[in-house]
Amino acid sequence: MPSAVAGRTVLIAGATSKAGRTVAEALTAAGAKVVAVGSNRGRLDDLREQVGDVATYVCDLADFAAVTELAERVRDEHGGIDGLIQLVGGWRGGGGLAGQTDEDWDFLHTNIVQTLRNTTRAFNDDLLASTAGRLAIVSSTSVAKPAAGGANYATAKAAAETWVRAVGQGFAKAEAPAATTIFAVRGLDGLEGQLAGAVVALWDQDAVSLNNSRHILQPDAS
Ligand SMILES: NC(=O)c1ccc[n+]([C@@H]2O[C@H](COP(=O)([O-])OP(=O)(O)OC[C@H]3O[C@@H](n4cnc5c(N)ncnc54)[C@H](OP(=O)(O)O)[C@@H]3O)[C@@H](O)[C@H]2O)c1
Repeated sequence: MPSAVAGRTVLIAGATSKAGRTVAEALTAAGAKVVAVGSNRGRLDDLREQVGDVATYVCDLADFAAVTELAERVRDEHGGIDGLIQLVGGWRGGGGLAGQTDEDWDFLHTNIVQTLRNTTRAFNDDLLASTAGRLAIVSSTSVAKPAAGGANYATAKAAAETWVRAVGQGFAKAEAPAATTIFAVRGLDGLEGQLAGAVVALWDQDAVSLNNSRHILQPDAS
């Protein structure tokens, strides 16, 4: 039976990591059109070589003007998107509370919060217009159990989760058939396949019950 994501256009924001590649492969295999975005042309070319039929765009997702321009191009060239899978992340931490530096906070805020704010603001109308709009991020179990040495990181992830819930509230208020989901992991290593399967399955689920859901992915569940 064809997957419900078949024929959908799904943008992966930060697509060149192992997780991004695995999600792109699963979506493509399920019949979706993948729009892969990253900041590095060489890594995007490698992704296209490995995955095959993927549209690639270089964009600094931390720059709102650049993301707005990207959204216009994607609309022109693909007619908008049905899904936004936000994977830009990164880790900085250690050294207890004293080690939570401003430089690390700026990095985490830019990568985790700012890029998410930019993509969701620029593509919100697409997700609202879609007959099955989906937004997903990968967060961390440390949001519920933060450590002093990871305070910057857990705080940035908590902010991202709150932002996603606000997007979901907007979907519900508009009575759009759109939904947000937060996947939370302790570590992503080894869970890329489980994440990819869960992303593909987002389109198999009813938007109202899926919206503003949070799922913990863990090794024994795969
Ligand atoms: N890894 C873990 O153990 C773990 C644990 C908990 C949560 N997570 C979360 O899971 C998600 C995926 O993790 P990951 O390790 O695959 O992510 P990642 O490597 O930190 O980021 C994914 C991709 O984003 C791209 N990127 C970075 N800055 C960008 C920018 N300004 N504009 C455009 N693209 C940019 C990078 O590719 P280019 O350099 O090619 O642009 C990178 O390959 C992240 O949100 C992460 O925080 C991961």
